[in-house]
Amino acid sequence: MIYFKDGEFLNEDQIQVSADDRGYAFGDGVYEVIKVYDGKLYTAKEHLERLVESAEKIRINLPYTMEELTEIVESLQSENQLTLGHIYLQVTRGVAPRAHQFPENSVPVVMGYAVESQRPLQNLEMGAAMKSVEDMRWLRCDIKSLNLLGNVLAKQDAIEAGCQEALFVRDGLVTEGASSNVFGIKDGVLHTHPANHFILNGITRRVVLQLANELEIPVLEKEFTLAEALDMDEFFFTSTNAEITPVVMMDQQPIGQGVPGPLTRKLQSAFNRQIPQLTAAGHAEERESNGPAS
Ligand SMILES: Cc1ncc(COP(=O)(O)O)c(C=O)c1O
Repeated sequence: MIYFKDGEFLNEDQIQVSADDRGYAFGDGVYEVIKVYDGKLYTAKEHLERLVESAEKIRINLPYTMEELTEIVESLQSENQLTLGHIYLQVTRGVAPRAHQFPENSVPVVMGYAVESQRPLQNLEMGAAMKSVEDMRWLRCDIKSLNLLGNVLAKQDAIEAGCQEALFVRDGLVTEGASSNVFGIKDGVLHTHPANHFILNGITRRVVLQLANELEIPVLEKEFTLAEALDMDEFFFTSTNAEITPVVMMDQQPIGQGVPGPLTRKLQSAFNRQIPQLTAAGHAEERESNGPAS
C-alpha cells in the first residue's frame, strides 16, 4: 500500500509515526473517510470541506489548500490503483513533548492511505440490528475528531450483543449511531436528529436528505425518543461505508414488519443510481464477500 505523509508518497517500510505525535498521545486531530467506487472518489469535495471545518473548530491550521487536499486524495486513489474501497486521511496537531496545551511551534502532520473495502451487501439487502447505548460522549460531536473512545465502547457493546451498530441515546433522545447517522420513518415522514453539536453531520446523511427531497418524502429534522424509534415503521443508519443500511431489529424488537421497508428501499435505489457506476467486474467481485456494516 502507498501512504501519504507530510508531502511524500511512501510505502509501508518507509512510513513512520512519531511516539510524540499528538494524535497518538491525545487523539488531538481530525480525519475523513472518502469512498471510492469504480476508481472514482465519491463526494470528495464535501468530505474535504468538512475536514477543513473540523480542523478550524479545534484550531489546527491545515498546511494544504482545498486544491492540494484534492490532489492528495486523488493521488492516493491512483497510486494504489483503488477501484472499490476508501481513502483515509487524518491531520494531527503535530509532534511535540507531551503536554496538554497547544505546543508553540508544532507543524500539523497529514497522513493518508487507501484501502480496498467491499460494499456491505448482506446488510444492505437483509438489514441489520442495533442496540441502544447511553451517549456518554463529549458535546462537540459535530467535529470529526480522532478521539473516538465513546464510539469505540458503544460499537463493542453492540457487537457483543450480536448487533451490527449501536444507537446512541442522550437524555432519552436518539442522537446517532456509533459510526453512522440514523433515520426513522413514521407514517411516510422521514425523521432524523437536527445537525447540531450532538451529532456529526454525515455526508451520507446530507445525500439522503437531498434524495428524500427529490423523491418528495417529507423530512422532519427533530429529536425523537428511544420509544419513538422502536415504534417507527422503518429505520436505517447511514455512513460512507454503511451507505443506507436498513435496521430490522432494535433492542431485540422488530422494527415494523422486521424486514427492510419500502421507503428505505426507494432511498437505497436512488442512492445506487447516483454513485459512480461499478463495472460488471466490480459487481462480481463485490458479491463474493460481505463487508463490515460501517
Ligand atoms: C459518529 C458518526 N456519525 C456519523 C457518521 C456518518 O458520516 P458520513 O456519512 O460522512 O460517513 C460517522 C462516520 O464515520 C460517524 O463516525
